[in-house]
Amino acid sequence: MAKTVDQYFDDLRETRVWRSIFRSGTGSSTLKRSLAIQQNVFLHLFSTKVRTRMLGFSATWYLGTLTLGTFLLLVATGIPLMLYYHPSVPQAYADTKDLQFVVSSGLFLRNLHRWSAHAMVFLVFAHMFKVFYRGAYRTPREFNWVIGVVLLLVTLLLSYTGYLLPWDQLAYWAITVGSNIASAVPLMGDKIRFLLLGGHAVNANALLRFYVLHCMILPLTAMFFIAIHFWRIRKDGGLYSHSSEPTVARAQTEHELSDVLPLPAKVARSGAPQLGPRRAINHG
Ligand code: HEM
Repeated sequence: MAKTVDQYFDDLRETRVWRSIFRSGTGSSTLKRSLAIQQNVFLHLFSTKVRTRMLGFSATWYLGTLTLGTFLLLVATGIPLMLYYHPSVPQAYADTKDLQFVVSSGLFLRNLHRWSAHAMVFLVFAHMFKVFYRGAYRTPREFNWVIGVVLLLVTLLLSYTGYLLPWDQLAYWAITVGSNIASAVPLMGDKIRFLLLGGHAVNANALLRFYVLHCMILPLTAMFFIAIHFWRIRKDGGLYSHSSEPTVARAQTEHELSDVLPLPAKVARSGAPQLGPRRAINHG
């Protein structure tokens, strides 16, 4: 009898190569599934247990996940774009035109990269507003909010640095205006502008700097902080849900206790004079 796809996968999981990489085996029990998450270098950033309700659309509108999706799409389209682009003057402009009109699927690749960038900026703001609206920025998640702010800045810088790369009129003047705005920062404005452009004018030095920032420094920074962002969700007790908050949880316990405790214990807890013998309350 022919094997099913599942059987092929089961056989694959039993091979020596597979077992040497994934030590926990298949997820046939809760323990094994937890181990599979804990022992994988990427998956261990995430929680081993998730409240089912938090996986629904209404909890997060999947905005953080969609932001991550656009980031991954940007990396996937950015790498092939790098194969056709030279960060030099005036070659950068010629390469961009070639991508637009000559390279096979170049137009599709470039547009996918551009639209993903626009989508990421939109989604990162939407995600931030949704987190704020749900109150998920409060204790113990303040640090993750700060990490989020860093990610927001990195996202905006990625967009800004990518803007200069086509080396067309739009890019040139946008960077001229942007770097002039940066020079308005009190005390160190001129130094920031000099550092950004690698000189006093928007020229080949600026193009090279923006290229290195756009293709190396900022994507690596984003990856680093995204990893911390996900790890923090796990350390902060999973995704925020109103009923998991310490104060709410405590209030609920009190409420549940007041429903089950006999009257004398309730009176004792309220601080009123006791009428009967005091009962031990089990908070465990
Ligand atoms: C590259 C940018 C970002 C990515 C890829 C990202 C990704 C995610 C993901 C996947 C989640 C979990 C699911 C969800 O809430 O959708 C999450 C949660 C969270 N994010 Fe972001 N995020 C980014 C930027 C931000 C920003 C700008 C902020 C705020 C300033 C922020 C604050 C938070 C907080 C506080 C949580 C925990 C929410 C909770 O516990 O429910 N993130 N993020």
